[in-house]
Amino acid sequence: MLTCTDKDHILKRTIVGLPAHSESATLSQVTFGRQTGAATLMARRLEGGHASISASSATVEHMTRVNEPVTGAFHVPVMSAEVVEGLSLRPGGAYIDCNVGEGGHAEAILSARQDVSLLGIDLDQAALDSARRRLSDYADRLELAQSNFSEISQITGVRLFDGILFDLGVSSLQLDTPERGFSFRTEAALDMRFNPETGLTAHEIVNNYPQRELETIIRQYGEEPRARAIARAIVDRRSITTTTELADVVKYAVNWSTRSRVHPATRTFQALRIAVNGELDNLEKGLMGAIQALGPNGRLVTLSYHSLEDRVVKTVMRREASVCICPPGLPICVCEHTQTLRLINRRVITPSQEETRSNPRARTAKLRIAERM
Ligand SMILES: C[S@@+](CC[C@H](N)C(=O)[O-])C[C@H]1O[C@@H](n2cnc3c(N)ncnc32)[C@H](O)[C@@H]1O
Repeated sequence: MLTCTDKDHILKRTIVGLPAHSESATLSQVTFGRQTGAATLMARRLEGGHASISASSATVEHMTRVNEPVTGAFHVPVMSAEVVEGLSLRPGGAYIDCNVGEGGHAEAILSARQDVSLLGIDLDQAALDSARRRLSDYADRLELAQSNFSEISQITGVRLFDGILFDLGVSSLQLDTPERGFSFRTEAALDMRFNPETGLTAHEIVNNYPQRELETIIRQYGEEPRARAIARAIVDRRSITTTTELADVVKYAVNWSTRSRVHPATRTFQALRIAVNGELDNLEKGLMGAIQALGPNGRLVTLSYHSLEDRVVKTVMRREASVCICPPGLPICVCEHTQTLRLINRRVITPSQEETRSNPRARTAKLRIAERM
């Protein structure tokens, strides 16, 4: 049983079960979500970092193509085989999925070995409910916690884990549930909170923030070159209450041509979502907490979907894998930094063409793997 040290009940936790031990399965027998197949790591494509990817096509998460179909099924986990391989599952190992979502990766992990246990964390109670249903066959090896992964140290207490996974961003469940307000495809209130029970909404930012601050959010978190025009148009049109109203304001502000492949509101919606959920700050805290919660040789595996979150992951991993972090040119080391990680892949791993064809939302994914010293 975990110890919950958070006295303010920030961590509303549902304990589903405790680890059990039985036989293991080989990787080729693993069932990934609803597909069964061999772990085809051969199919993965290595590429040289985000600089080599076209900024217009890959830096914005789940870049929404104008005619992309909306799927209604479970969130399809990205690079499941590579994630399981990256975690290097050990007999009787204990793992954390910091973004358990609808349990796709969790299912891949729990079905890969019959003797591993998993703690799944998510801010979203609807996602946890879905994960609990999907993972009912593994209830005796599963714990689920509604919490922010930035609080991972409070959740884990003194326990050490053999591997921790981050699968960042938004899920298909959230994108495809109109009333959550993540998508501009359908009319809904501007919400965008991963945990809709608490915190700032997109409506509050859009309607109350000064124009300068809105512009900064849209430029920094959306990497949107037309941030000034969009922020000005938003302020002129206030109040804006729905997703489609906001999308129309952006379309108008950038003078959108319908020939463009990507909807012009994509970057603005990403920016607002990152701001609403404090995603980049949470990520840095979560990664540092995860490193502390890993036992010797435990694996840290991350999947990021846009250049901003990938930059945070890359910076933390490289810094923690360095012996010294002094500025270059100093005659002696004064940083007193202790190396905590070793990098397993120096170049990011990206999905195969086959995967991006069958799951377009995987196309911007970047997988990084490091190991605790
Ligand atoms: C890409 S989805 C994960 C999908 C999951 N791996 C699966 O296979 O179904 C990301 C999930 O992370 C959750 N999330 C985002 N930020 C979080 C945070 N700071 N703490 C906990 N959960 C978070 C979201 O609510 C969402 O359910």
